[in-house]
Amino acid sequence: MKYLVTGGAGFVGSSIVDRLVVKSHQVIVYDNLSTGNEMFLNHSKDKILFIKADLLDTKRLNEAMQGVDFVFHMAANADVKDNLKNPTKCLEQNTTGTSNVLEAMRVNGVKNIAFASTGSVYGEPDVFPTPEDCKFPIQTSMYAASKLASEGLLEAYSIGYGIRVFIFRFVSLMGERYTHGCVFDFYKKLLNNSKELYILGDGKQKKSYLYIQDCLDAMFLAIENSTEKINIINLGTEEYVEVNFIADTLCEELGLNNVKYVYSGGKRGWVGDSPFILLDIKKMKALGWKPTFTIEECIKRTITWLRENQWVLKERQ
Ligand SMILES: NC(=O)c1ccc[n+]([C@@H]2O[C@H](COP(=O)([O-])OP(=O)(O)OC[C@H]3O[C@@H](n4cnc5c(N)ncnc54)[C@H](O)[C@@H]3O)[C@@H](O)[C@H]2O)c1
Repeated sequence: MKYLVTGGAGFVGSSIVDRLVVKSHQVIVYDNLSTGNEMFLNHSKDKILFIKADLLDTKRLNEAMQGVDFVFHMAANADVKDNLKNPTKCLEQNTTGTSNVLEAMRVNGVKNIAFASTGSVYGEPDVFPTPEDCKFPIQTSMYAASKLASEGLLEAYSIGYGIRVFIFRFVSLMGERYTHGCVFDFYKKLLNNSKELYILGDGKQKKSYLYIQDCLDAMFLAIENSTEKINIINLGTEEYVEVNFIADTLCEELGLNNVKYVYSGGKRGWVGDSPFILLDIKKMKALGWKPTFTIEECIKRTITWLRENQWVLKERQ
């Protein structure tokens, strides 16, 4: 099979590429390297075709799509925290980007796509754990709104053109090649200042996290077992931790005692931050999948990887 992975040089995309290469598939990585890194593809560079290009470049996207069987669409502006600084960026990078991917698929007769959505599309729901058919509450961030709009496009293309779609709503992911998010941020801050850690919000936000390889196991299992044209699947764990727990685990792992936590205050770390995320994963579990790593193990694995790959700290400021 021939696969195209948008965002294939990023954290999630490059991990997908590894799995496809192991199975000897033909792989095209389409990435503008805005946040991704070619280093993540170094070990497989002879086995893939890397196209450095933007989703907004429809000509190159159309050319790249020729003869493709399956698209993993992972490219996005995944910066949730700062998206109010540039509100049109999410629309362009996420929604228009997805529209361009779908249109290139339609033109080239490509019939399968897996899309990286987010648990943030549930905003601040009333139901926990939150199931896929939860009534959508008000959208609280540009990021989630742009992802939800993308989901709508995927569904319409599926109905309109018979494309099989997989919409995976991830909680926050962690593990090897993790280069953004809370652990990354805390780790960098603690290396710079081991006495004090600035935490956005009150530290009591409750978050669920999933280990990247558990996430990929689920995605591939869902794709192999699907009989539906439109598949919407939550991917998370059945546990959650407070942000303070992440800080505590990091301090413990780094051997730091008496770090003073300084809070920005409030229940949310930023506008659009969800004080509680816990997704219902029954649908995925019914296929025989369950996460193999606890959140604590997942944090520790991430720290180990960051320790061994300090270069990413310089690359992602
Ligand atoms: N990591 C998480 O915790 C998480 C949680 C929920 C959803 N997601 C979604 O999963 C996907 C992958 O996230 P990630 O953590 O790997 O992020 P990432 O930033 O590591 O990877 C995104 C990749 O897309 C590329 N890219 C961005 N805009 C592009 C454009 N316009 N054209 C071409 N390439 C472009 C970047 O260079 C990067 O390689 C994203 O869609 C993100 O929204 C991630």
